Amino acid sequence: MNMSNPGARPVVPLSKMKPNDVCFCGSGLKFKRCHRATTERVTPGVVSPLREVPEAIERPHYVVTGGTDDRDESMVKSTDVLERMRRTGAAAAEILRQVGDAIAPGVTTDELDVLCHDLCVAAGGYPSPLNYGASSPFPKSVCSSVNEVICHGIPDSRPLRDGDVVNLDVTLFREGVHGDTNATWEVGTVDPESRRLIEVTKQCAWFGMAAVKPGRPVSDIGRAIQGHAESHGFSVVRAFVGHGIGTEFHTRPEILHYFHPRNDTVMEVGMTFTVEPMIAVGAWQHQLWDDGWTAATVDGKRTAQFEHTLVVTEQGPELLTLHPDGHWSGSGGDPSI
Ligand code: MF3
Ligand code: CO
Ligand code: CO
Repeated sequence: MNMSNPGARPVVPLSKMKPNDVCFCGSGLKFKRCHRATTERVTPGVVSPLREVPEAIERPHYVVTGGTDDRDESMVKSTDVLERMRRTGAAAAEILRQVGDAIAPGVTTDELDVLCHDLCVAAGGYPSPLNYGASSPFPKSVCSSVNEVICHGIPDSRPLRDGDVVNLDVTLFREGVHGDTNATWEVGTVDPESRRLIEVTKQCAWFGMAAVKPGRPVSDIGRAIQGHAESHGFSVVRAFVGHGIGTEFHTRPEILHYFHPRNDTVMEVGMTFTVEPMIAVGAWQHQLWDDGWTAATVDGKRTAQFEHTLVVTEQGPELLTLHPDGHWSGSGGDPSI
């Protein structure tokens, strides 16, 4: 709390603040260098036409038949499926790394989508989000979620701005299996609270995965995440969950990122699922944009997210989407507690 302006409320209407005014929070910084980015809502841009994937690349079944996920896929995978998931997961991690490297002020999320699309194809895979979903299929190859957008943002013509935070969620389908991973980046120089949000969210993902242990209920994961987030004054988004994954994009089990006693699937060696906590500075409730996909916080405050696909082993989690160099993508380096 800044005592020169407790609660950091604007003393002049926000619409009247000019970029070079002194920020209302009492930091002494210019408004444009301090709270401007966190007080403006993200507005939808223009979505570019659909991009094609070469015929030679194998498509997930939902692209071919327009159906949805098959919830009957076995939660425990064969060694053959696991081998393929290791390769696809590592390739997804490399794509996430490369698309993340292109983030800069002025770059549009559509440009990041083109890069992700082309990298998936160059890797011999299909970008799983493209045409996913039965009623109004997702129209792009990556999810890009800026500031108060929690998840499933559709890449468009909006240029990233200095002070934004952006999550990129890459899923690759190759060798008949999906690898799903995401990370959050700072764009240029961001305010200290957003930096802390990203750091705590990354630790939440790490703590959640550290709770993976055969014989234990998956609710241990949500308990660990919720405890860490709330101890830092943040909240856990409830409506979007981790999921089983393999030959299907989204299948059993559901992984809640908060504690619920009925989230009681017992973890077994060979089970694969994602852990992907979305952590909010303010309210965890969301509102969907008119596009039917983009989920934003009701209060306009920011969220961050990190995601890995993992397999349960005797020793704990094996991260299938860890980059081959062992490092995490996104801002803030590797999680250290
Ligand atoms: N990758 C997202 C997840 O973590 C799902 C995106 S579905 C899409 O589960 F259709 F929005 F791409
Ligand atoms: Co996922
Ligand atoms: Co994802």
